[in-house]
Amino acid sequence: MPRKRNLRTRLNLANKMNFRFVTLLAVVTTAVVAISSGFSDLHAKPDSERQAYLGNLLKQDCGSCHGLKLKGGLGTPLRPEIIKDRSDEVLIETILTGIPGTPMPAWKGLLSNEDVSWIVKLLREGAIKSD
Ligand code: HEC
Repeated sequence: MPRKRNLRTRLNLANKMNFRFVTLLAVVTTAVVAISSGFSDLHAKPDSERQAYLGNLLKQDCGSCHGLKLKGGLGTPLRPEIIKDRSDEVLIETILTGIPGTPMPAWKGLLSNEDVSWIVKLLREGAIKSD
């Protein structure tokens, strides 16, 4: 039945175009998100003075809620074994924007992506000793 096949061909074509459009949309969205979130400096390092400041902030400020050894307090524990299942991106985003409806504040006014990326590295390394 030629009519039916015709319809199917057209549907197929529409599907393909739709797929291409969705792919294009995904690529563009990823690029925009990457650029606007400062993806390029995700792995840049703060200078040594800033690193010292951030290490101290992690201990004093983050530690005031998450425990001085980051084993938990008002905030959840942040030991390496606890956060190992979370990606850098998720942790960075959580720290920058905070967790609305909980005491976890947003740090983006005070810390740059670069800073937070460094803090996540410290957390992963267990830089604050647990004993
Ligand atoms: C005023 C208290 C407070 C301070 C200060 C604070 N946090 Fe939190 N944070 C919390 C609480 C409470 C939670 C858990 C929120 C919830 O119920 O999900 C949390 C959650 C988190 C999480 C998510 C943990 C997970 O298991 O996914 C991360 C990461 C985190 N904090 C990092 C930090 C870092 C890094 C700092 C310092 C720059 C910091 N926090 C400072 C209270 C705080």
